[in-house]
Amino acid sequence: MRKKIIAANWKMNMTQGEAAAFVETLLLELGDESDVDVVIIPPFTAIPKVTEALGAAQNIKVGAQNMHWERSGAFTGEISAAMLRDLYVRYIVLGHSERRQYFGETDEIVNRKVRAAHEALLRPIVCIGETLDQREHGNVEKILAHQLRGSLADLNGKELTETVVAYEPVWAIGTGRNATPQQAQEAHAFIRHTLTQISDSATAEKVRIQYGGSVKPENAAELMSQPDIDGALVGGASLDARSFAQIVKAARPDDRD
Ligand code: PGA
Repeated sequence: MRKKIIAANWKMNMTQGEAAAFVETLLLELGDESDVDVVIIPPFTAIPKVTEALGAAQNIKVGAQNMHWERSGAFTGEISAAMLRDLYVRYIVLGHSERRQYFGETDEIVNRKVRAAHEALLRPIVCIGETLDQREHGNVEKILAHQLRGSLADLNGKELTETVVAYEPVWAIGTGRNATPQQAQEAHAFIRHTLTQISDSATAEKVRIQYGGSVKPENAAELMSQPDIDGALVGGASLDARSFAQIVKAARPDDRD
């Protein structure tokens, strides 16, 4: 049984003060959640504040939104995996569609980062997803297989099982228009099938696949009840601690049945 993983991708939002207030409310709502893996992914500048505010709540982990693949050096403006580890970061979002679209990240670049993350013992959350145009032209599977194979190239079985894949249809991100649970399940099943081809079925069964794109308290439970949906990467609704907590609660095993 795969444990659900719900992550809050704050993107370029939240000051230190706002981050601390968020964590305080979240802890009141959830306590040190253990039924669901919860990851808070602040901008770099708020990471230490979030860790500090989490205090003794060991189960809730902290992630980052991007990193460079090199260990150190002359890369002005960049951050390395080791620097993130130094801040107790455990997860790293890689290949988000906003990075691909606005910052020119290719599958090859994403793959370098994914391999560097594993080397540093950071768990990557690797985002893939089609645009509306690609969906309307019937290219969903082609695009997903291509992004998956490119982004996850050269990983061994253990690294694959420690990788989270996030299916985020670009047309559903920040638009209020989520994929239907059936559309999402279909894509997730295809992703798992492709993972079987990349590795083997035992490995593919262990990989957690999150859905992302306009996840809200109102649609979370139905999405989470799909057999191949193992969690959510939440943007907009993760900026409000109560909304985010409701999404986490919708992913708890008891609420699923
Ligand atoms: P959204 O963003 O929930 O605001 O659609 C999801 C994401 O980009 O990870």
